[in-house]
Amino acid sequence: MAYRKLKEQETTKEMTHFPRLFSPFKIGSMEVKNRIVMPAMETHLCDPEGFVTSEIISYYCTRVDGGVGYITVENTSIEPAGRINDGMLCVHEEKYVDGLKRLVDEVHGLGGKIVIQLNHAGKEALTYFTGMGTVAPSPIPSPLTRIMPRELSVPEIEALVERFANGAERVFKTGADGVEVHMAHGYLVNQFLSPESNIRTDRYGGSREGRARFALEIVQAIRAKVPKDFPLICRISADEYTEKGIKLEESRVIAKLLESAGASALHVSACNSASAVYNIPCYYLEEGCFIHLAAGIKAVVKVPIITVGRILRPEMAEEVLEEGKADLVSMGRTLIADPYWPKKVEEGRMEEIRPCISCNRCIESIVENRLVCTVNPFIGREWEPGSRPLPRSKKVLVVGGGPAGLSAAAAAGEMGHKVWLWEKEPILGGKYHYASMAPKKEYMRKFLDYLIRQARKYAANIQCNKEATLENIKGFDPEVVILANGAKDEFLQIPGVGNNHLMDIKGAFNGAESLGTKVAIVGGGPEGCELADYLLTRGRQVTIIEMRRMLGLGLVAHPRHHISERLKKGGAKILINTKVIEVGHGFIVVSKRGEDTQRLEGFDSIVMSDLHKPNDSLVELLKKSIREVYVVGDAVQSRTCLEAVYEGANTVLNL
Ligand SMILES: Cc1cc2nc3c(=O)[nH]c(=O)nc-3n(C[C@H](O)[C@H](O)[C@H](O)COP(=O)(O)O)c2cc1C
Ligand code: SF4
Repeated sequence: MAYRKLKEQETTKEMTHFPRLFSPFKIGSMEVKNRIVMPAMETHLCDPEGFVTSEIISYYCTRVDGGVGYITVENTSIEPAGRINDGMLCVHEEKYVDGLKRLVDEVHGLGGKIVIQLNHAGKEALTYFTGMGTVAPSPIPSPLTRIMPRELSVPEIEALVERFANGAERVFKTGADGVEVHMAHGYLVNQFLSPESNIRTDRYGGSREGRARFALEIVQAIRAKVPKDFPLICRISADEYTEKGIKLEESRVIAKLLESAGASALHVSACNSASAVYNIPCYYLEEGCFIHLAAGIKAVVKVPIITVGRILRPEMAEEVLEEGKADLVSMGRTLIADPYWPKKVEEGRMEEIRPCISCNRCIESIVENRLVCTVNPFIGREWEPGSRPLPRSKKVLVVGGGPAGLSAAAAAGEMGHKVWLWEKEPILGGKYHYASMAPKKEYMRKFLDYLIRQARKYAANIQCNKEATLENIKGFDPEVVILANGAKDEFLQIPGVGNNHLMDIKGAFNGAESLGTKVAIVGGGPEGCELADYLLTRGRQVTIIEMRRMLGLGLVAHPRHHISERLKKGGAKILINTKVIEVGHGFIVVSKRGEDTQRLEGFDSIVMSDLHKPNDSLVELLKKSIREVYVVGDAVQSRTCLEAVYEGANTVLNL
């Protein structure tokens, strides 16, 4: 099986400073070499019928090769009506066993350990995909889709218990090292456990024990079909982070019941679909924000406890283990971003880690498409970078030192080309240099620093303050030019804009101290919002004006929610659905949809968000004398960091 092996590095390998993290552990019959767990994360890399593909095998094997203790295969459906979408793996029939076995064998061939997660989405299944209605313990609509589910009858519930048990038996047949039952995140088992979604009055509802009965019967039914020491892990939401949902105290009782029923370990997560903005904590939430829940459960049970939730640094993971708050540490997005995180940490190669920036593009991508990652362009095609022999080392000039240019320079250099990079600004990073200055964006900074280190490592020469022109590019005589020179920024043409009294976003970040007290920001897209947040934390009074229906459009939904909340809490005056008619010294004339114009006055500064236009004017001219000219990133069209990084790295594959 093709997957991407970590290149042998020339750096001196130090031994790990994280002895607990890299100590072995046992869950039932499964011995793992370290305490790092890859949690279940849907990839949408299976085929539409839910069968294992070579892409999914490559994806998981790369993470096994990266040194993780064990991987948990993404949620796998035990019943067609319980599939979330066509990106969900299946194990509801015998025909799925062979494919899963192939995955298990490949993982074992690499010396890895593998657990498969079972799930039924209940009322969170997407009906437009399943073609069936949704089911749930009680007829309460899904907080996400608003669709009303049908209440399950007792015989149907008993049949579903059997379905989970059959799924687990099939998992056992594949030779996997364990099975995990998804009892968290608002899916069917969680729906039964929660007083918010289960208002039944029969034996599957009512009391806490009644609500827990479905989960307990699943555990008992699985235990009856697999050996006593076969790891059966229950993943729970110890706090649903909703008003009426489960809280830690109740989860402690549920945990004890699960332990008595036969669970081998508990994977302690949080949230349901109504609190999804906290479930996969984005950069506005604290690192390790669910560790206290694991510790709370660990205090009342004897089975091993796995913690999860924005654990990005080995120091934090080590501390959790040292303080006895959990026995294993699950790191999801960390391992999407860099599958080799465990090996790099163990070998002291911290500088080589490609950090997850907690942007949550990954979770947004899998609703209807395959998994993507802002910082890792090779998800599900991990073998590609190493699979194309280099026909000839070429002289490559990369123009622009933002993420697209840095990504292209590093990738081209790593492949063996001779690479130069010219950046017209005094600093590298492009517009993301400024984005990383905003509050809570430290991991964006870390990622830029990583890209810069990689580019410096692989590119022969990086020059800042070097503007590329047709003449000097021709004079340099490269064989390949990659134009990654960002968008052409312009202000929206409205009356008053030409009067030279406006600042752009970049200038505002750079010159924040000179903006005065009252600042207006025209444009509440991602950049405008982040600048507003930055200024609010510096004690400014901020008015933000956006003509669309909400702030932060263009951001992933989770950070968009949190930044809107931050701006509201920070006291920003927010005007949406509001068009700017005119700007002048200290004033702005606006018109809210359907209303009269209004003059807003007294601003010390007015900042205008730029329109980002394609920046490809050099292309055709260059093509007359240089055979290979490519344009990547915002120079093609303004988009996000993901497209920039992806296009930079991807273009190079074809040189
Ligand atoms: C793309 C993606 C898919 C996910 N799919 C699942 C899943 O199938 N089952 C599950 O229990 N959790 C799923 N999760 C949640 C993760 O297992 C994990 O709890 C979450 O990402 C927080 O951990 P982290 O901060 O280490 O990433 C998913 C998360 C992501 C980012
Ligand atoms: S998409 Fe963003 S949050 Fe998800 S793994 Fe990649 S960097 Fe992390």
